Amino acid sequence: MDTYNEELGMRVPEHIAIILDGNGRWAKKRLMPRNYGHMQGSKAVELVCEEAYNIGVKYLTVYAFSTENWQRPSDEVQAIMKLLRNYLKDCIKTTSKNNMKVRILGDKAGLDDDIREQIDKLEKESSKNTGLNFQIAINYGSRDEMVRAMRRMSADIASGIIKESDITEETFSSYLDTRGIPDPDMIIRTSGEQRLSNFLMWQSAYSEFYFPEVLWPDFNRKELVKAIEAYNKRDRRYGKVKEK
Ligand code: IPE
Ligand code: IPE
Ligand code: MG
Repeated sequence: MDTYNEELGMRVPEHIAIILDGNGRWAKKRLMPRNYGHMQGSKAVELVCEEAYNIGVKYLTVYAFSTENWQRPSDEVQAIMKLLRNYLKDCIKTTSKNNMKVRILGDKAGLDDDIREQIDKLEKESSKNTGLNFQIAINYGSRDEMVRAMRRMSADIASGIIKESDITEETFSSYLDTRGIPDPDMIIRTSGEQRLSNFLMWQSAYSEFYFPEVLWPDFNRKELVKAIEAYNKRDRRYGKVKEK
C-alpha cells in the first residue's frame, strides 16, 4: 500500500526495486576502470537506502549481481565480490544503528563460504529490526529462483508436506526468495536500458516501470523524487476498469 508524504505532496510506493545499471559506463566516461564505477555505485546504494527510508519507502530491493554476471571477466567478478564483502561487513555494524532489516535474494549456494556466513549473520542480526526492509539480489536470476522454488515444492509434495491441490499463486510465491515481501510497486532501471535482465519476473506482474537515463553512481535523492513523481502520474488498474 502506498503511503502519503505530506512534505512532498506525493504518494510513496511501499516497495521500490532498482536494477543498478551503468557503473561501467560511468567509469568509462571518466577514463577510469570499470571497477571504480562499481565502487562509486556501492556508495550510491548506501545513500539511496537512507533517502528512500526518509521519504517513506518501506521496502527497497536492489539488483546487484545476476546469475549471468559470472560471465564477466574474472577480475571484474572478483572486484564486485570484494566490494560485496566490505559492504556486508559494514552493514553488520550499521544495521543496529539504522534499524534496517536486510535480506539477500538469490542462490546463496553459489557464493563463497565466507560471504554466505556474513550473509547469515547479517540476516539473523537484523531480522528483528523495524526500519527499512532492504533486499539485495546477489547471484539472483528470476528463472533460477523459480526453478529452485519448483524443486523445493516438488520435494515437499513428494514427502507429503503439501498436496498438488495446495499449489496456488500464493503457495508458489511463498517458495520464492521474496516470500513475505510485497510485490514491487515500481521497478527503476538506471542508464537508459529498458529490460528486466532476469529480475523479479514473477513479482513484477503489476509493477510500474521507470527508466531514467542517469547512470547508477549518479543516482541520488533528486532522482528518487523524480521517479516517485513519475509513479504518481501512473494509473494502476490491475486489469479492472478505473473507478470514478
Ligand atoms: C551494473 O553496472 C552493475 C552490475 C551489473 C554488477 P554495469 O557494470 O552493468 O555497468 P554498464 O552497464 O557496463 O555501464
Ligand atoms: C543487470 O545488469 C544485472 C544487474 C544490474 C545486477 P546487466 O548490465 O548485467 O544487464 P545486461 O547484460 O545489460 O542485460
Ligand atoms: Mg550493465
